[in-house]
Amino acid sequence: MSFALSRRGFIGSAAALSATPMASPMAAYAKSDAAANAPVPVNPLVKQRADAQVFRHDDGNYYLTGSVPEYDRLVLRRSKTLAGLATAKEAVLWRHEKTGPRSGFIWAPELHLIDGKWIMYFAAGPSGGGDDVFRIRTYAVICDGNDPMTGKWSVLGEFQSPWDSFNLDSTSFVHKGVRYFAWAQREPGIDTNSNLYIAKLESPLKLGSKATRLTVPTLDWEVRGYKVAEAPAVLHRNGRLFMTYSASATDARYCLGLLTADENADLLDASSWTKSPQPVFVTNTQTSVYGPGHNSFTVDEKGRDILVYHGRDYEAIEGDPLFNPDRHTRVQRLYYTADGTPDFGVPVGNGPMPERFASASNPKLLLAHDGTRVIAGNPALPQTQFRQLPGRAGAKSVMLSPILMPDHYLVANKDGSISLQPDSQSADFALRSQFVRFDEDGRGTRFVAISIPGKALGISDGQVKLVSSRTSGAYFNAD
Ligand code: AHR
Repeated sequence: MSFALSRRGFIGSAAALSATPMASPMAAYAKSDAAANAPVPVNPLVKQRADAQVFRHDDGNYYLTGSVPEYDRLVLRRSKTLAGLATAKEAVLWRHEKTGPRSGFIWAPELHLIDGKWIMYFAAGPSGGGDDVFRIRTYAVICDGNDPMTGKWSVLGEFQSPWDSFNLDSTSFVHKGVRYFAWAQREPGIDTNSNLYIAKLESPLKLGSKATRLTVPTLDWEVRGYKVAEAPAVLHRNGRLFMTYSASATDARYCLGLLTADENADLLDASSWTKSPQPVFVTNTQTSVYGPGHNSFTVDEKGRDILVYHGRDYEAIEGDPLFNPDRHTRVQRLYYTADGTPDFGVPVGNGPMPERFASASNPKLLLAHDGTRVIAGNPALPQTQFRQLPGRAGAKSVMLSPILMPDHYLVANKDGSISLQPDSQSADFALRSQFVRFDEDGRGTRFVAISIPGKALGISDGQVKLVSSRTSGAYFNAD
């Protein structure tokens, strides 16, 4: 079941720094009431769409494509809002052919607008059974018109890769006016499933430079089940290019790695890219998301960075994970550490996308918890993310639940303290866990306690407690 919550978010929080400001129509929209009132995405955003790419076009529309469980067709959704992708109509752009090299698996499509043409890259293999079905190569289809949802799509051709070998998960991006192509491929002489490569792109299917090998899976978290580096995705922020990639088998061991390059470096020089020694995004049993990976990046209606990825909400898989349909599309805010590095945190789990609440009077103090107590501070990101859920005291009431303790809720106690409690199903819990949210332009967000009139969730003297609902301590910047 998916439902979109609508609430006014407080604009003005320290949104992710962006080195590449959005096109002016979207920049203006980001400050609009429409953006502030955009519905909150609910995870999983789209069920059974793996390898999801969300593309926000400069007309303000969101497009989503991804692998379908049948691996037999290319699909596309369009929505004015990120949350709306959940229920958007899905067009079938192209189906695999009856015979030949594109008659079997269709994997990991990506939509790109290249020189004014809509092009969708994808990986495909022949049908007919046996290992030949994994003779996967990269192809592109092209749209005959300006509307990718209604235009006619036809095969443009096959990507001319450096070797006639297994290749997939291609992406393209422009940096300093140069278009690049990054993809995963098995290279003759290297005993892995796939490595990552980058090159300039001269035309949609033809490289404009020698391919540079960026990374080979060798670390323990890259070679669990299979030796895999695939699904590159690029983000340009804070003077650097961040290229995520996915590693290991597509079960709960699947995870994200990260390569980082300075924005002024030679992107075709492998030594420009530094590999994070540890994965940046992995399975989390507290939030029940398993095998998070094959990501893309987009921005929400307020222009804030969003991580798009797939993940299952259970661990045990019968049979080959590749044929398990439950890699659902998920989205969450992407934050940054003080030095501008992406902080991926943990996969946030099912339900409305969470937020962080920093004290409006002291932004260094966020609403947080230590696993037992509610605290004011700036601990690890996941300890500061709280999900707002519909309340039980009328349409305007809400409840707040920490993503790492999804069966616990914030409770306003008689003594003025705030605690984390499981749903005891008691009348007292049902009253004390209810708040009303007020988002006030220029001041911030307040959560007024329904159980104690005139009191609100607040931070005062470095502590989280009930405060008078009109004092500065009751105001938070929601981000
Ligand atoms: O989902 C099909 C393929 O499996 C994708 O192309 C790849 O990223 C994943 O491992």
